[in-house]
Amino acid sequence: SSRSPFRLPFQQCPRQPDRQKADNLTAMLSDIPSETPPNNLAALAEDHYFSANPPPKDLEKHVALAREFINYHSAANRRLVLITSGGTTVPLEKQTVRFIDNFSAGTRGATSAEYFLEAGYAVLFLHRQFSLLPFSRHYSHATDCFLDFLREGPNGSVVARDEDSAKMLHVLRKYRDARDRNMLLLLPFVSISDYLHELRSVAQLMRPLGPRGLLYLAAAVSDFFVPPDRMSEHKIQSTNAADVFKRTGDANSRPAAEEEETFDNFDSSPSVPRSKRLVIDLDPVPKFLKNLVEGWSPQGMIVSFKLETDPTILVHKARYSLDRYQHHLVIGNLLSTRKWEVVFVSPGAPDRWIRVPFRKSGVASTAPALETEKDEPLDPKSLPEAEPE
Ligand code: PMT
Repeated sequence: SSRSPFRLPFQQCPRQPDRQKADNLTAMLSDIPSETPPNNLAALAEDHYFSANPPPKDLEKHVALAREFINYHSAANRRLVLITSGGTTVPLEKQTVRFIDNFSAGTRGATSAEYFLEAGYAVLFLHRQFSLLPFSRHYSHATDCFLDFLREGPNGSVVARDEDSAKMLHVLRKYRDARDRNMLLLLPFVSISDYLHELRSVAQLMRPLGPRGLLYLAAAVSDFFVPPDRMSEHKIQSTNAADVFKRTGDANSRPAAEEEETFDNFDSSPSVPRSKRLVIDLDPVPKFLKNLVEGWSPQGMIVSFKLETDPTILVHKARYSLDRYQHHLVIGNLLSTRKWEVVFVSPGAPDRWIRVPFRKSGVASTAPALETEKDEPLDPKSLPEAEPE
């Protein structure tokens, strides 16, 4: 068959150059002596991932902006935080029409950025393109259109509605102050490989900051991806109509009935012809936290987030991550309660839960996952602490 490997169960894949490459890698890895230190293995995995997955087209431009920003604040002896925020996409095609995404709206990252600015940090905000941004988050992605916050003023002017103007002025002043003092740099990414390239480059640039550099990893990082050597160049087809044309060059040719209805023993869904199904085969995204902690930014303060949906494993997974990567803090959160409670897990300290009291009447304890934040930032000092239930 000349069908894309996406459509074929693994056993049916023709031995193509891309499979050959995967075999070469397997052979290379099996040649590695078993006593190879784990650090060397991590370096090999890093080399392989970053050479196989092309960098985003704006990486050089972003690196130049980040270098200038970091040098500027380093010269002022200022603390600087890299915040990662929002979801990472997993493209299914090189010329991407379709991709897998996750739930993250970037609320945690954008809100945290405002608090870090308030605390005197310069903020390098590495965020998913079009996700929530510090300050503008109060007026975007909301159920209201931003125009709802405005009204016509005198002489054809546009002004904030009376009921919104006090808050808007407060947000505007903070935003202007951050911008005018060059305290906030926004760098966007889209896909998981864009994110990892950007993260590695910026983390390495932050090395000279030592412990004055904080990495606060709030992005929702995809765990699975399609490696480029298995990725279709063009839009994945939903029928095999183009195959016959490609084979024969005859625009009037049509697939034979038997070609439309191909089944075999490997079919997981034999009632649907294979030509109409899409089977996606994802590889695990390598975990680069070890590389980050030990190589990219070894002196930096590193805070990672752990997201789970099952409350019974959250703290265990957070503690496991801390033990494995030996960084400074893991903040655990559950998808359904992440807006008002988190658990801090740090070395040699008991788990510490932080809960935000409900401040809006009628907010149920299972708030919708994508509820948009429209609240004022809280004073962190005012937050009560509570023991886990
Ligand atoms: O944006 P919001 O809607 O406000 O949601 C906020 C949030 C829930 C996304 C945020 O609070 C959060 O939990 N972010 C981390 C989500 C995540 O990637 O969790 P994880 O359990 O899959 O990964 C844990 C850690 O491993 C993360 O720090 C991640 O950077 C890292 N990781 C993950 C995958 C991977 N391949 N390599 C990694 O290094």
